[in-house]
Amino acid sequence: MLLKSIKLNNIRSYLNEKIDFPSGSLLLSGDIGSGKSTILLAIEFALFGSKPSELPASSLLRHGQKEGYVELNLELENKNIFIKRNLKRGKNAIKQEIGYIITNDVKKELSPVEMKADIFDLLGYPKDLVSKGKDLIYRYTVYTPQEEMKKILMEDKDARLNTLRKVFNIDKYKRIRENSLIFIRGIKEKRKEIEGFTSDLGEKEKEKENFKKEISDLNEKLKTIEPKVKDAKTIVEKKRQDISKYEEKIKILVKLKNDFSILEIDLKNLLTQRENNNNGIEKLISQIKAVEKELSEEKADDGKKIKEKIEDTEKNILNLNENIKIISQKLSESRILKTKSDEIISKISKIEKCPLCLQNVAHEHKNSIQERENKIIAEAEETLKIYSEKENETNTKLKEIEKEKEILRKAESRIELIKLKIKNLEDKKNEGIKLEKLNDDIKKNIGEINVKKADISKKIEEMKNIENEYKDAKISLDSALTEEKKIEIEKKGLETKNDSLTKQLASLQEEILKKQSAKEKLNYLIELNNWLENYFMGLMGTMEKHIMLQVHREFNELFKTWFNMMIEDESISVRLDDEFTPIMDQNGYETQIENLSGGEKTSVALSYRLALNKVINDVVSSIKTKEILMLDEPTDGFSSEQLDKIREVLDQLKMKQVIIVSHETKIESFVDNIVRIQKDEHVSSVV
Ligand SMILES: Nc1ncnc2c1ncn2[C@@H]1O[C@H](COP(=O)(O)OP(=O)(O)O)[C@@H](O)[C@H]1O
Ligand SMILES: [Mg+2]
Repeated sequence: MLLKSIKLNNIRSYLNEKIDFPSGSLLLSGDIGSGKSTILLAIEFALFGSKPSELPASSLLRHGQKEGYVELNLELENKNIFIKRNLKRGKNAIKQEIGYIITNDVKKELSPVEMKADIFDLLGYPKDLVSKGKDLIYRYTVYTPQEEMKKILMEDKDARLNTLRKVFNIDKYKRIRENSLIFIRGIKEKRKEIEGFTSDLGEKEKEKENFKKEISDLNEKLKTIEPKVKDAKTIVEKKRQDISKYEEKIKILVKLKNDFSILEIDLKNLLTQRENNNNGIEKLISQIKAVEKELSEEKADDGKKIKEKIEDTEKNILNLNENIKIISQKLSESRILKTKSDEIISKISKIEKCPLCLQNVAHEHKNSIQERENKIIAEAEETLKIYSEKENETNTKLKEIEKEKEILRKAESRIELIKLKIKNLEDKKNEGIKLEKLNDDIKKNIGEINVKKADISKKIEEMKNIENEYKDAKISLDSALTEEKKIEIEKKGLETKNDSLTKQLASLQEEILKKQSAKEKLNYLIELNNWLENYFMGLMGTMEKHIMLQVHREFNELFKTWFNMMIEDESISVRLDDEFTPIMDQNGYETQIENLSGGEKTSVALSYRLALNKVINDVVSSIKTKEILMLDEPTDGFSSEQLDKIREVLDQLKMKQVIIVSHETKIESFVDNIVRIQKDEHVSSVV
């Protein structure tokens, strides 16, 4: 790391100022109180922020200002970095605000805590020192505030030793040992736990063997039971086949019985039918007898003569009716003639004049007409008399003939009736014949049915034992099934037991495996424990001592060298005791730092400080601030000759950047660059 410049805004005696840091040696010169130390404090603040005890924010923000900042520009591994931190005055305290880090133009806004972590990273300072309030490495390798220079020498030796352990990173061996002890305690507890857990491993293994034996016995039994199950199944199957054969036969038997009862019904029907037919025949016979008897009493007449007679009578009736017509005609003609003549006579008697000629009708004439008409009347009356008689005669005859006809008609009807009866008789006879024929058929059917019945009966007889056999077969099947079930239950029981034993064995095996691996772990733990206790802890102690020795040797050599460079008086020499306390030998007498002069004290402090710087930089390899050193008033109490030694010191340091704060003008001639600081009216500035 090399510093390039810093901007201070409202920091202590500064309002707003930029200070450039060229490489090589730089002297910040100025009067006491001009603002030199402020620049170094601002650099530390930019890097690590304020710290309540060592670098409080209140000591940085300029009195009377509400806010201020520091922006530091540096170069690190070819990266151009800007770090800015802000301060703000709050109601009760001054606080750090969010700041930023710009790395090669990439800006990251960060909280103060985040910034600190990032910067530790950048500077390669051991991470485990981040959380600890003090930036020990920075303070012992780069910059020690003016007042702190002698502090480490004056400190209590235990406190110093602790601090040195921390910065040399030797502390870790102690921590490792402490942690190892905690770890060993843990291991011991774990060992106890595992020992408890694995104590019954042997027992469990025996148990496992027992299980295995039991399972193999069971398997033997299962092997012998399997053929039994198979046999039982075969028997059951056979019995089932028997049963189904019997069932087939029973089906046939039932059908036969059924057929038989159908035949019986048919037979009964036929017998009833035959009886009915016989009854019908009997009835017909008696009917026939009655009709025949009836007919035998009748005269045999086919009715031909009667028909002829009827025809004759009808002809006579026709003739007579014809006659009656003619007679009635004659009678009516005669009556008309008589009536006419009566009218003429009555008219002529009354008539005086002729209606035609209107002449008086002569009496004679009237008489002659009367005579003529009377004659006609007489003739008409004669005719009436004759025909009236004839009419009576004819009517009487007609009545007789009609009576005769009626008798003939009745006779004819009777003949028709007899004919019908004869016909009916024939029908009945035919019917009788039909019934006889039917009875013949029935007889034949009955015969056939009886044959069939006999046949079926025979078959049924043959099968009469089937049902009992079927029952027996069923009983036999049942007992075969019971046997099969019994064997299967037995087998199932064996299998279940086998399953449960197998499961138990598996879980036991698992348990044994766990215990075995626990035992392995236990062995490992015992080994680890022994290793840690007997070897590792000792090794850590040895390593610590070794490193401490090495550090001590180097530190001691450097301390002596730097001191000898600054103090040429050979009567005084320095060294480090085992606890890194500087010991001064003056004329062969050991003396304490308090007894030295101011310049001597400063020389011891500066030598110690420079030696420390080199040793830390050598031991902690990751540090990236090895090329820079800042010294604040390192020459307090130095004589003019001693000041000359500073040139040598600067040459010997071989640092790329050294910033010295001093009010000693003599030093100006030793350095590459000078920045003069001046304070006017409470405001510092670069001249
Ligand atoms: N918070 C502050 N505000 C203003 N001035 C301060 C503040 N703190 C210190 N000062 C003053 O700043 C001046 C510079 O101090 P400093 O840098 O230590 O001087 P020197 O040049 O001797 O190292 C001193 O006069 C000091 O009193
Ligand atoms: Mg100062």
